[in-house]
Amino acid sequence: MAGLIYVLNGPNLNLLGKRQPEIYGSETLGDVEAKCRERAGALGFDIRFLQSNAEHQIIDWVHEAREDGVGIVINPAAYTHTSVAILDALNTFEGPVIEVHISDIHKREAFRHHSYVALRADEQIAGKGTEGYVMGIERVAALLSK
Ligand code: DQA
Repeated sequence: MAGLIYVLNGPNLNLLGKRQPEIYGSETLGDVEAKCRERAGALGFDIRFLQSNAEHQIIDWVHEAREDGVGIVINPAAYTHTSVAILDALNTFEGPVIEVHISDIHKREAFRHHSYVALRADEQIAGKGTEGYVMGIERVAALLSK
């Protein structure tokens, strides 16, 4: 294995598939995990796929990734727009960080247009649906191969 990629999910994403399906689609987070695991495996990576509604838990997982992870794909959900603490945690991580949003945050309410995480992320993928996660894994792999 080429290493472990952390795929981190923020608040309310545990309800994916049930939550505002007109915006976020009908796939569950379990479906997304399966797609990520398959693509990562094909690229020679393992993944640790995690979700929490708690900001401190996401920060702790970023710290864990400092020890065991080669890259991070993160959908911080609402914390994208509020969390300097998650930005600070990501700034301590040395590998590639890809920010993913299922919806296109730039075409939604004004308060979703700003992302603190974007100040650290190597790239942001938004509005590609859950495929954005798979693209995020591909981008981590590509950045690591440079
Ligand atoms: C989201 C977009 C955020 O604005 C929102 O708070 C979410 C999900 C997305 O995946 O499109 O919870 O990150």
